[in-house]
Parts: sequence; structure tokens; C-alpha cells
Amino acid sequence: MHTFRTVSDIRIEPGGTSRLDAHVSGLPSNKRIAVVTDKGVRSLGLLDPGLAALQDAGYSVMVFDDVVADPPEAIVEAGARAVREFGAGLVIGFGGGSPMDAAKVIAFLAANNVSLPEIYGVDVAAQKQERPRLPLLLIPTTSGTGSEVTNVAIITTGESSKAAVVSDPLYADRVLLDADLTLGLPAAITAATGIDAMVHAIEAYTSVHRKNPISDALALSALRKLRGAIVRAVDTPDDVEARNDMLIGAMLAGQAFSNAPVGAVHGLAYPLGGFFHVPHGLSNALVLTEVMKFNAEEERADRWYAEIATDLGLKPSATAMIDEMVRIKYATKVPQRLADVNIKDSDIPMMADDAVLKERVLRNNPRPLTLANITEIYEAIA
Ligand SMILES: NC(=O)c1ccc[n+]([C@@H]2O[C@H](COP(=O)([O-])OP(=O)(O)OC[C@H]3O[C@@H](n4cnc5c(N)ncnc54)[C@H](O)[C@@H]3O)[C@@H](O)[C@H]2O)c1
Ligand SMILES: [Fe+2]
Repeated sequence: MHTFRTVSDIRIEPGGTSRLDAHVSGLPSNKRIAVVTDKGVRSLGLLDPGLAALQDAGYSVMVFDDVVADPPEAIVEAGARAVREFGAGLVIGFGGGSPMDAAKVIAFLAANNVSLPEIYGVDVAAQKQERPRLPLLLIPTTSGTGSEVTNVAIITTGESSKAAVVSDPLYADRVLLDADLTLGLPAAITAATGIDAMVHAIEAYTSVHRKNPISDALALSALRKLRGAIVRAVDTPDDVEARNDMLIGAMLAGQAFSNAPVGAVHGLAYPLGGFFHVPHGLSNALVLTEVMKFNAEEERADRWYAEIATDLGLKPSATAMIDEMVRIKYATKVPQRLADVNIKDSDIPMMADDAVLKERVLRNNPRPLTLANITEIYEAIA
């Protein structure tokens, strides 16, 4: 049996934020709206036309902009308290994966009398749910995580530890993709988050437990869009068409991996973020091609990579797919080695010990990994 779920209401409109009053229509349960974002996004002024549109339409708006990258537990809990006290009838998550993940959990916690640690894990939030979460609209300003269409939120729980809330109440009610918001995204963030999106699609297509025909179709469409646009989006930042394709591609990849979850690329990337605060997309870019080479030794992974290559019009082989990702990494100028992000050879044992525990994602990988395998992959990119 296959199952597939996603957000049912998705709108694609470059410039759509300036008509935010129209895009919230039918969602809020009262005239009070809470926007969850971060100070970086806010200082860019991206939200201003949206706030003006909401205020002109008679809404009271509260902005919670304390979210930081890889949102810590305490900030998300503080956001939930603030949103509950404000009495919001709608939560809007506005920003990259960090504000959107925070908004998903805030909308849940503000309506339910549980603490955040109580809902970590797969399907736990749905079991603890007493009341429906607050209505939720997500508007991405990066094109990478696909968080706008996933039922996942990643929360930082300690110095180097993260936990995930994975549960269907986290699917948003509506998504707005406004490519204009991503025009100012710096080249390095465009590249790393874009490669993260490509990894989502590749890992969804090769996910051994819940690979399914709908995720497969979405993953292939995502890769066509992302591969066609990523270098243009990096080189010519104001190319709205490329930006729109990146945003759509990242969203399609998010729909795919929310149902066919990611594998060892993410598993090996997590310790880079946890211990060294390497941004999520960049961590994935660093480990991607070595993990693919390792996986391609397994017959089914070799075949699946070849299918992706064929769909992209490359030579029908896993090698062609791996070479294409290497080409994209160079063309988008992402760092290539652990040393480029100040990770030393002597750090590898600690990272490998941590990565081998990422059972939640490693179990989806097409080839099982031992501690020795993981160590060798890190050594190959040292
Ligand atoms: N929920 C999911 O399914 C899922 C999937 C993958 C990753 N994640 C999580 O998402 C987070 C990473 O998200 P991200 O990569 O989108 O980055 P982010 O949200 O952490 O933002 C990174 C930086 O980019 C800035 N920024 C955002 N939009 C900008 C814009 N348009 N122009 C200029 N600067 C901008 C932000 O202010 C911030 O400083 C991590 O916490 C990761 O764990 C979640
Ligand atoms: Fe990711």
C-alpha cells in the first residue's frame, strides 16, 4: 500500500505578498494575525507590503521576530506563549525553514496545553492533540527546505542536539510561493539551499521504506526545475523566472520527501550543523556526492540514480547523475571540503559517532551504513 499527503491549497504568485489580505481570506478565526519570522528577514523589508495589506484590511497584526536559524526550543516555546496571549486567529510563518518550522510548532502549541518536548518524535503530536492547531499559512523566503509543505519541524534542543516533530497536524492550511521574496537571497544561500532541495528529491526517490509513485513523480519534476534554474539563480539573482522555478522545485521536493523521507545524506549532514553550525544546505552539499558514490554500489540505488539521470536527459547511469551533482556544486561555488568550513580530520570520529545514531533517516537509505562506512565518507571529503 502507498499513502501520500500534502498541503491542499498552494498559491504561486510572484509579488503575491502585497495582496496578503486576499491570500489569508477564509483562514483566520478572528481579526488577529500573528506573523512568525526572524530579524534578518524582517530587516530586509520583505514583510512590509504584506503587513500594510493586512492592516488596511482591518486586521490587528503581531510580529514575533525572535526566531533564529535552527530554532531553539526556548524561542519556539516563547513564541507559542506570545501568540496565545495575543489571541491570534491565524499564524503566518514567513521566512526560511527556521521561521516556518517555528510557526508550525507555535500554531500547534498555542492551541494545545502540552510542552514542546512532549511532542518530539513521529506521530506523537497528533496523539497529544486536544484541539486543532491555529490556522496556518506558510510563505517561504528561501527555496530549499520545502518546509512549507512538510509535516516536519526541526528544533534545536541543546548545544549540538536537535529533535524533530513529525506529525500531520503540522501540514499547513495554505502556502503562498512569492518568488519576488527570494530575489535578494545571497548567492551562497541560493546555492546551498537549492542543493538541499535537490538532495530532498534525490533521497525521496531512493527512500526504501515509503518510496511511492506520487513522490517519485514529484521528485523527478522537482529535479528538472531545480537543475534547470539553480546556476541561473546564483549567477543572475534578479531572474524572476529562475527564482520562481527554484521555489516551485523546492516545494515539489518537499512534497516528495514529506512522504518518502530522506536518507544518509541528511544523516551525515546533521552532525556538521549540530557541532559546527554549518548551514543545513551546505552540510548536505558537502556530503552529497560521496554518499551517492557509496550508495551506487547497491544495485537498487544504482538503478534509481540511473532512472533520475535518464529523466534529466543525461546518460542513463548512476555515474552520470553523480557527475552532474559534482558539476552543479562547482558551478554554484559551494565549498567542497570539510576543511573549507573549518572542520578538522580529528573531528571526524566524533561526527561519525553522532551520525550513526541518526536512525530516523539512515533507515530510509538504500544501502545500510556502518560506523566504518560513515568514517570513510567523511575522510573522503576531509
Ligand atoms: N521542516 C522541514 O521539512 C525542514 C527541511 C529541511 C530543513 N529544515 C530546517 O530549516 C532550517 C534551515 O532553513 P533555511 O535554509 O531556509 O534557512 P533559515 O530559515 O535558517 O535562514 C537562514 C538565513 O537566511 C536569511 N534569509 C531568509 N530569507 C532571506 C531572503 N529572502 N533574503 C536574504 N536573506 C534571507 C535569514 O534571515 C537567516 O539569516 C533548519 O533549521 C533546518 O533544520 C526543515
Ligand atoms: Fe534538507
